[in-house]
Amino acid sequence: MTLELTWLGHATWLLESGEHRILIDPFLDENPASIVQAADVTADHILLTHGHFDHVADAASIARRCEATVVANFEIASWLEGQGVENTVGMNLGGGVDLPWGRVQMTIAWHSSQLPDGSYGGSAGGFLVQTGGKRVYFAGDTALFSDMSLIGAGGLDVAILPIGDLFTMGPEDSLAAVKLLAPQRVLPAHFNTWPPIAQDADAWARSVQAETSAEPIVPTVGEPVQL
Ligand code: NI
Ligand code: MN
Repeated sequence: MTLELTWLGHATWLLESGEHRILIDPFLDENPASIVQAADVTADHILLTHGHFDHVADAASIARRCEATVVANFEIASWLEGQGVENTVGMNLGGGVDLPWGRVQMTIAWHSSQLPDGSYGGSAGGFLVQTGGKRVYFAGDTALFSDMSLIGAGGLDVAILPIGDLFTMGPEDSLAAVKLLAPQRVLPAHFNTWPPIAQDADAWARSVQAETSAEPIVPTVGEPVQL
């Protein structure tokens, strides 16, 4: 079974597991780093880490067009139902759910989550995804927290961590996060979208290589990485 992860820019990822297409935090049309439009993306599941615009902007339109199931916290799931999204799985921190292609557990994240129209967006989170025999951790937008060692305790094949600074962990804290999570491989996210979160991902990758046992992979937008 194939398992591929493609960066679509910023914090948007496409995870392809067998015939399933799982989209994480779709932000495409107004994303300066994106090379695709929301109307050109298909998915059968959409995972949303939190309510901020740069994570949910294109979720409703893609979910309606593709009849995709959206997995998010309960507040965001309800907000999307109000916009005509028919299939949602509302969950909350610590909870998990079995889906046709694997299992998703919502992890904690230290961040905020207000929705674009000012609605309450519940708690920000991340996702521990088990699919295709792999364990993949999407940290979402977050500060560094020591409980990452608990998330890594079951073993992680891949971790996706923000490095942009300002709104999330920066490169130094992200490096500390790699040490706590101890994944086999790690990919950076949430950087270089706009000047305030510009980062040298190659320098971060060299630090990861030098100081941890994880293999850093700096992705190119639109180029799939085999997991
Ligand atoms: Ni955010
Ligand atoms: Mn963000």
